[in-house]
Amino acid sequence: MATPAFDRSPAPAAAVGERPQPPLQPRPALVAVATTPLDEASAAADYAHFVARVRVLTGIDLSGYKAPQMQRRLLALATRQGAPSLRAFAQAMERDAKALEAFQNFFTINVSEFFRDPARWTALAEQVLPKLMQPPRRALRIWSAGCSIGAEPYTLAVLLDELYPGVAHTIFATDIDETTLRRAAGGTGYGETDLRNVAPSWRAKHFRQANDGSWSVTPALKSKITFRRHDMLREPAGQGFDLVVCRNVVIYFTDAAKQQLYGRFHDALRPGGVLFVGGTEVVSNARDLGFTPWLTSFYVAGPRPANTTRG
Ligand SMILES: C[S@@+](CC[C@H](N)C(=O)[O-])C[C@H]1O[C@@H](n2cnc3c(N)ncnc32)[C@H](O)[C@@H]1O
Repeated sequence: MATPAFDRSPAPAAAVGERPQPPLQPRPALVAVATTPLDEASAAADYAHFVARVRVLTGIDLSGYKAPQMQRRLLALATRQGAPSLRAFAQAMERDAKALEAFQNFFTINVSEFFRDPARWTALAEQVLPKLMQPPRRALRIWSAGCSIGAEPYTLAVLLDELYPGVAHTIFATDIDETTLRRAAGGTGYGETDLRNVAPSWRAKHFRQANDGSWSVTPALKSKITFRRHDMLREPAGQGFDLVVCRNVVIYFTDAAKQQLYGRFHDALRPGGVLFVGGTEVVSNARDLGFTPWLTSFYVAGPRPANTTRG
């Protein structure tokens, strides 16, 4: 199929695609930074304390993220925020909404863009989608996990509309970060850089430019996606997906968390369904998890291997 060139407080556990998201809860207003001396001996204890407080304050469980990297990056953030240790930063987060927000913004690292890594989207359009759409299949059930500002699910919606117009696909888009998710659901405020890989004809059809130069997706495109908050490390996945897209999210996850997550994605896919990961990501032990590696970044779900237990 010819494809136009690309110019370049936690919610209760609910499976994706099974229950609507309850209203997002406001965070308590919080002030001020206490100080303690920073030294090698107390750093690990401070990190453990920080992890525990973050779990209470935000519902985010940092235990699935690589500790050395997370600790180093958090300390840099704490210093930028004027806190001399993670313990002090945790105290600041309890009292100061701005400190809590700084943590959440940092933690979710929501860099994204439309058609990010264009060659992989070309592979999706030319090889993966035709396979998934083989007759008698008409509509696909898709999950974009860790969707950030929405560029990824909107990219899926653009592609499907262009390649299979008039088919009512289902696209769920989830992220752990409520603020980012609100922006994604709004579908506004995208910059030129975010759209740099979108072909001009597709830009003209699926986007509108505001007076300030920023771009929004059209209401028609927006209506194709269901957004909701979801922590992929802690909450159940749905089932029966044809395609699960999880790209550029797992970099800070521990190997154990990644294995568990990919196992869950396998169970969320129908047999023959496809997992689409980031350009630099590899599913290690793919076959043990029930996947067959296919193209770069794409894995096909087979039957669940015998004697496996998934968390
Ligand atoms: C770098 S962005 C990737 C966005 C998009 N997938 C892409 O490739 O352009 C990573 C996103 O993963 C989200 N994230 C991190 N941990 C998560 C978790 N446990 N559950 C759901 N989303 C998570 C972050 O909030 C962030 O928006």
